[in-house]
Amino acid sequence: MIRDGQIDQEEMPAYSELTRRLGFEYNGMILHEYYFGNLRRGGMDRPTNGSPFVQAVERTFGHYERGKTDFCSVGMLRGVGWAICNIDPSIGLVSHHWVSLHEHGNVAGFLPILVMDVWEHAYLLDYQPHERKQYIEAFFSNISWSVVDERLQAACSAAVVPR
Ligand SMILES: [Fe+2]
Repeated sequence: MIRDGQIDQEEMPAYSELTRRLGFEYNGMILHEYYFGNLRRGGMDRPTNGSPFVQAVERTFGHYERGKTDFCSVGMLRGVGWAICNIDPSIGLVSHHWVSLHEHGNVAGFLPILVMDVWEHAYLLDYQPHERKQYIEAFFSNISWSVVDERLQAACSAAVVPR
């Protein structure tokens, strides 16, 4: 559409909707890549004591279990979306965010290190819609903590762009 150097009046409605939906469609793809990337069949239900992730959670919440409770509680919010543990690379602290649909609630400059899909399609084959809590428990038993640590370390070692 932009190849001829302009968006003319006839093109504007299609151009507008393609642009408006880009965050939904594109972030939906990216978040699923993070989600499946941090899953591992038969993973340990908790990270190793003293791991980079545990240290970051403890720095932020004081105790690992308190941080886990916060993340799981975010995952229990009504509606469809995502629970995301982000790292703020500029200060090395984590925070948990609810992302509605795929695009509302992402924080600029924060990087996802643990991503949980809580759209119903993520668990409807195994659980009833009201059994999201059991799905979240199962999710925690199938996490690749090494991937989470790698994301955290990569985020914190990357050059920090001043805000
Ligand atoms: Fe999904």
